[in-house]
Amino acid sequence: MKNKIAIIGATGLVGNTILKVLLEENLFWGYDISLFVSSRSAGKEFLFEGRRFRLLELDENALSQKFDFVFFSAGSKVSLMWAKRFADMGAVVIDNTSAFRKEKTIPLVVPEINFENISNHTKLISNPNCSTIQLAVVMHKLMLLGEIEKVVVSTYQSVSGAGRRAFLDLKNNAKNVFKCGINDEIIAKIGEIQENDYAEEENKIMFELSKILGKTIDISATAVRVPTSVGHAESVYVKFKNNVSVIDALAVLDCEHIKVLNDVVYLKDVRETNVTYVCRLRQKNKNELEFFVMADNLRRGAAYNAVKIMKKLI
Ligand SMILES: NC(=O)c1ccc[n+]([C@@H]2O[C@H](COP(=O)([O-])OP(=O)(O)OC[C@H]3O[C@@H](n4cnc5c(N)ncnc54)[C@H](OP(=O)(O)O)[C@@H]3O)[C@@H](O)[C@H]2O)c1
Repeated sequence: MKNKIAIIGATGLVGNTILKVLLEENLFWGYDISLFVSSRSAGKEFLFEGRRFRLLELDENALSQKFDFVFFSAGSKVSLMWAKRFADMGAVVIDNTSAFRKEKTIPLVVPEINFENISNHTKLISNPNCSTIQLAVVMHKLMLLGEIEKVVVSTYQSVSGAGRRAFLDLKNNAKNVFKCGINDEIIAKIGEIQENDYAEEENKIMFELSKILGKTIDISATAVRVPTSVGHAESVYVKFKNNVSVIDALAVLDCEHIKVLNDVVYLKDVRETNVTYVCRLRQKNKNELEFFVMADNLRRGAAYNAVKIMKKLI
């Protein structure tokens, strides 16, 4: 029987990229796919790769449609309202928002790292934050070199990380999401500053890294918005409890989903790929490494991660 797939937030940056990745992973043609949006765009026709969809409003009728997989990418409020209800109806829900990432019983999954946290009974799975995924992918490999004492990360995050309206602010030189403007600007916080003096995005990275790696990591994060369209970058410092070397680091990082370059990486080469790029790998003291990480936030940081979870489940 065909798998029935629903994408909630299908016209958004992540939802649209989920469609692209489903196509690339051979999960598009021959699959029964329903696209859900807000009441603003419901009823409109949506054309993707020549296939016509009618955009649907998320309502009680949707619940009774017996979906096998439901991707949520319409913001935390929508997920909080609907995700568990779809899971109760038997669907496997993969949620791209931050709604459930902190819940102990809900796995926070990067398939290359901790897919085994999903059991036969798991119905709700959280996809981590976009900037956490690319860091986790690299840290997971570096942990093979020994015990981590401290991680310090500073991010350079593109506007697409804040959704379609933010993306259009950059494109149109507008101030709808970024009230100060984002063209020719840098914003030294992402999300509100919270009680511990770290911004929302920084706390997400710091909490989620340990949950994904299954180990408490002493990490300090600074998250910064920069005026680029797609692709997040991170400058990372790692201190180990033991001596390490660049050669050993290169050996453990060598895998299908990570590419290490001797030269600098450019965003244009990272966009539209599912690979995590590492460059400027260097050593300060015997137990310290520094490097730069880049990935496509809409793919590696969201859609590809989510679709890969689904693909592994089927
Ligand atoms: N952007 C990233 O890099 C990234 C990475 C990881 C996780 N995420 C998370 O993924 C989620 C979506 O991000 P995005 O960047 O794709 O946002 P976006 O571009 O703003 O898209 C939002 C989508 O949600 C739909 N929507 C809004 N309200 C809805 C409702 N009440 N019911 C159903 N659909 C509704 C919108 O439909 P309309 O067309 O009707 O407005 C649109 O399709 C956010 O929670 C975000 O934090 C984003």
